[in-house]
Amino acid sequence: GSLIHRSDKEIAALAALAEVEAGMTVGLGTGSTAAFFVSHLGERVRAGFSIAAVATSLSTENVARRAGIPIIAFEDLATVDLTVDGADEVDDRLFAIKGAGGAMLREKIVAASSRRMIVIADGSKLSAAIGRAPVPVEILPFAREFVLAELRRLDAEPVLRIANDAYYHSDQGNLIADCAFASLPDPVATAAALSAIPGILGHGLFLTEVDTIYSANGGVVTRLDR
Ligand code: A5P
Repeated sequence: GSLIHRSDKEIAALAALAEVEAGMTVGLGTGSTAAFFVSHLGERVRAGFSIAAVATSLSTENVARRAGIPIIAFEDLATVDLTVDGADEVDDRLFAIKGAGGAMLREKIVAASSRRMIVIADGSKLSAAIGRAPVPVEILPFAREFVLAELRRLDAEPVLRIANDAYYHSDQGNLIADCAFASLPDPVATAAALSAIPGILGHGLFLTEVDTIYSANGGVVTRLDR
């Protein structure tokens, strides 16, 4: 046999894969860690394992379809059985910052609809208390300057995301501002303040959605439950 070296991202993805049962509707996350999960799930589906899936981004949808995973439209669903997604930063309160991939609006909707939500991560994503990663905020283009001014009033330092010398646009056609906070002592209060600004359609603070975190460090998986 060949020697297989698996990264911590892949090892965390495999821990979550063990929780998928036949017949489930599975929410597929976005990013390089979630991509390992999608790839291994696809392998199992091609071997006859029967599941259906919804995707949290157009990019994940394309990859999943190519892997042979049957994708159903989330619009038609009220409940997902199990969602597996990555994160940019997590802590042991099961708070997460997500959205470096720009998909946090769909990710949060799918996570909220899920009976169970698992975050998979390598050790670099763990911190004592979230606040290191910038918090991405999705902005209706119409509200751009108004929202940026409101964010500065919250002591955030918002930077509009750029791609190919133009504003980055989310799958929904909106703008993303990555918000650096000097500190994030009360993520619940910050999340509420962000949600209260008209023109902000979503943000990357996931404070209630995550049920379990599988993190892998040097090949060793640690499981954290709510
Ligand atoms: C996507 O919008 C994010 O929420 C991702 O979950 C996050 O960026 C993790 O990506 P990696 O697994 O590539 O670090």
